Amino acid sequence: MDVPIVDLSNPNEDLVARAVVKASEEWGIFQVVNHGIPPELMRRLKEVGTEFFELPETEKEAVAKPEDSMDVEGYRTKYQKDLEGRNAWVDHLFHRIWPPSRVSYRFWPKLPMDYREVHEDYAKHLKKLSEKIMEWLSEGLGLRREALIEGLGGETVEYLMKINYYPPCHDQDLVIGAPDHTDVNGITFLVANEALGLQAFKDNHWIDVKYTTSGIIVIVGDQFHRMSNGKYMSAKHRATMDKEKTRISWPVFVESSLDHEFAPLRELITGEDNAPKFKPYVYKDFKFRKLKKLPLD
Ligand code: SIN
Ligand code: FE2
Repeated sequence: MDVPIVDLSNPNEDLVARAVVKASEEWGIFQVVNHGIPPELMRRLKEVGTEFFELPETEKEAVAKPEDSMDVEGYRTKYQKDLEGRNAWVDHLFHRIWPPSRVSYRFWPKLPMDYREVHEDYAKHLKKLSEKIMEWLSEGLGLRREALIEGLGGETVEYLMKINYYPPCHDQDLVIGAPDHTDVNGITFLVANEALGLQAFKDNHWIDVKYTTSGIIVIVGDQFHRMSNGKYMSAKHRATMDKEKTRISWPVFVESSLDHEFAPLRELITGEDNAPKFKPYVYKDFKFRKLKKLPLD
C-alpha cells in the first residue's frame, strides 16, 4: 500500500481532479508529480535552504525567533517529547512567503545571496498550484470552485514556509523527528531532500512516503477536514530521522490569518442530513486549543 501519486500533466483534467478528490477522501495525503513548478526551481529551493542550515550558528542567529515573540517566525532549535516520551529535536526556520503584506524579510536569511529570489519565485508558483488543487477539492464537494479558498479567507490566506533540519540519529528508538500529528492548517505542500523519513498512518499502519526528487507531497489539514464537514481526511503523519543522513523538509502551510473564523462550508450544510459536524472557530483559538491539547469539537 502506497500513498497515491497523481500526475498533473495528464491532459484529462476531470480525471486528475477526481484522483485528487479521491486521495483526499481516502488518505488525506498524496504526491503530485509533473505539477508545473520547474524542477530547476525546486532544486534551487533545496540548495539555498540546505546552505542556510550549514552556516555557522552565529549567522543563523541573525534570523532567530525573538524571545518575546508571540509569532512563529524565525530560526529556532526545538526539543520536544512524543507520546511515548521519546526525545525529539529539530532545528527549524519559519517565515511567511505570501501575501506580500504579511512577509517580514527580517526572518528571511540574507545568505545565501539568492535565498530571497528563489523563495519569492517559489511562492508565486506554489500559490498557483495550491489554488488549482483547492478548486478541484471545492468541486469535489459539489461546490463552486472558489468555495474552499473563500472559506479559508480568500485574499487573506497565508502561506507559511517551514524548513525542518533533522540531523542524523543513530538511535531510532530514542528520537523521532516529528511526533505523529495532523496539520492544523488548511493544506500543506511539502518537499524534502533525498533522505526518506515521512510516514503516513493509514488503516492502523505507518506507511513510508516514497517521494520523488521533484514530487510534492500534499497533506490535507484540520481546517479542510472541518470545512469539508469531514469529507476530506486530515492525514496523521510523522517524521523519523535517518541513521546516516541529514534530513531536510520544506512544508508550506496554507492557512487562514489568525483572526479569520472558519467552519464547515455553509453551502454544504443543507437539510437535516447535512448538519454541521464541527463548530466554527477563530483560527487563533483553534490553533491554541490544539497546541494545548484542549478539547475541540
Ligand atoms: C511535519 O509534518 O511536521 C514534518 C514532516 C516532515 O519533516 O517530513
Ligand atoms: Fe505535519
